Amino acid sequence: MLPLPGACNPGCSADGGTTVMRQSSDGPARPRAARTSKGVSRRGFLRGVGTTAIGAGAGAMAAGPLGIAAEAQEPERGAVQLPGNFGRMFPNLPAFARTSPALTEALTDIGKPGGLLDAQDNLAAGPINLITDPTLSVNNRDNTTHTAGTTFFGQFLDHDLTFDTTSPLNVPTEPTRTPNARTPVLDLDSLYGGGPMASPQLYQSSDRAKLRIESGGQFEDVPRDANGRAVIGDPRNDENLIISGLQAAMILFHNRVVDRVRSQGWTFWPVVFSEARKRVLNHYQWIVVKEFLPQIVGRSLVDDILRRGRRYYRPTTGAFMPVEFQGAAYRFGHSMVRPSYRANLAGDDGQPFFGFIFDPAGQGQADPVDLRGGARAARRFIGWQTFFDFGDGNMRPNKRIDTKLSTPLFDLPLGTISSGDPPTSLAVRNLLRHVTWSQPSGQAIARAIGAAPLSRGDLSELSGYGIGLDANTPLWYYILKEAQVRTDGLTLGPVGGRIVAEVFIGVLQLDAISYLNQPNWRPSLPARSGSVTGDFRMVDLLTYARVDPASRGQ
Ligand code: HEM
Repeated sequence: MLPLPGACNPGCSADGGTTVMRQSSDGPARPRAARTSKGVSRRGFLRGVGTTAIGAGAGAMAAGPLGIAAEAQEPERGAVQLPGNFGRMFPNLPAFARTSPALTEALTDIGKPGGLLDAQDNLAAGPINLITDPTLSVNNRDNTTHTAGTTFFGQFLDHDLTFDTTSPLNVPTEPTRTPNARTPVLDLDSLYGGGPMASPQLYQSSDRAKLRIESGGQFEDVPRDANGRAVIGDPRNDENLIISGLQAAMILFHNRVVDRVRSQGWTFWPVVFSEARKRVLNHYQWIVVKEFLPQIVGRSLVDDILRRGRRYYRPTTGAFMPVEFQGAAYRFGHSMVRPSYRANLAGDDGQPFFGFIFDPAGQGQADPVDLRGGARAARRFIGWQTFFDFGDGNMRPNKRIDTKLSTPLFDLPLGTISSGDPPTSLAVRNLLRHVTWSQPSGQAIARAIGAAPLSRGDLSELSGYGIGLDANTPLWYYILKEAQVRTDGLTLGPVGGRIVAEVFIGVLQLDAISYLNQPNWRPSLPARSGSVTGDFRMVDLLTYARVDPASRGQ
């Protein structure tokens, strides 16, 4: 929880929060924690931004009192959850496979460029055709029940909840000893850092209730230092142009709410900031529950958990991030990324700006040809009508949740990887991270929650590796296949949906000041129509922030 200026909020402890939370005892032996001395090596844009931009986030958590507490207390493995560290949702389930060179080889092969997960988009058709012509993407189908912006709101949410900057890839590591550099609360620490006192670099020096914002030439851009590195609460929110645009929109949204709070008679800046932040958080949390979660898990599961309670994400003393969510289920979002986007409709000398999400040709360019982040130029802003439905026919759909990822994700720019090291295939990284966390198999979780597991036939493409991956499937691969088989890729299936929905609803229920714990709370900000309707969606937020098409005039 973010301390208010000069204050300690409920739940914050003056000693840095070394309280020990007891979890249920662990099951079968898991590999011992590989204690790593590996620091957070940050190359490229993440390296620089990491040191300038992280407020109360990664830097503070990893090196701060929580990190020291984790070392000093030597928790019994798997039995104790320390605040600030990752944990497990299904501590009694065994790892999906034994570590072995054959396992590493198989996972690397499944996730390689041109491998099972690669949609093999026809990149030669170019970024415009790949978003306008669905017939070019028979292998990487559109999801017309989501708009393209669902992906980036989802990524933004991840960056509010989880950030693992220390665990080594493909080396078994104990989650309960691994710090999560984000608070496991939907509290926008990625936007606010530690607040105006702890992270003054994020705030306007002439008005400390407001966040800093700059211009990119035509429209807004996140603040940047002399080297072009974003000065924001989480460096990953400048990883691509769309999430960077969302960060800028959230900054403007907060600043507009500050204006509203002042117009209602509040004057003392710390109180204005605190009141504005509270309103921003509650409206944002409302969007998560009312708009985002129903899109990705289905409304009936959301309603079921809200009415009948959580069954598997049940922390005993406070919220934490389970690796089943962080390392697998919530990475489903990687399957929704399109190969290319229209960033805006008329920002490129009056023409639309289309680009691949990543293109090696963009490396080293001042104004890259692709949609990577970390660069400022007049055309590098987001026209949101492509990403959310403003009712003008310009919206573009998302990709389905399935075992096909867009081809550019198999060759990420090194700057998008926080360690700065290969592998550059996102799919390989996700799969090897299952070894890091000794994740349970998707089938084991399906059985544990009473869902019918996928059959070996559903996963027959994995049988050829000869190590039983079709019966004990890496959780991330499983939830992608489950979505494909059970919902035709429109939403997550029973295992993926249950993990994701319980964690989101859980962190809100465990947060005393979330809107879910204010029974009569309703959105008080005007919707796009200009009237207060008691509802609030992404298009309303973007309109209130004045980054909507009408405000931009394009
Ligand atoms: C262009 C879009 C995206 C890119 C380039 C990207 C890239 C990455 C990379 C490089 C990692 C670290 C992988 C590792 O070493 O284990 C990561 C982690 C992760 N991603 Fe994404 N991602 C994108 C979108 C998304 C979306 C849409 C979601 C969910 C809706 C998502 C969820 C996650 C999660 C949960 C993690 C683990 C974060 C942590 O705790 O450190 N990502 N992503």
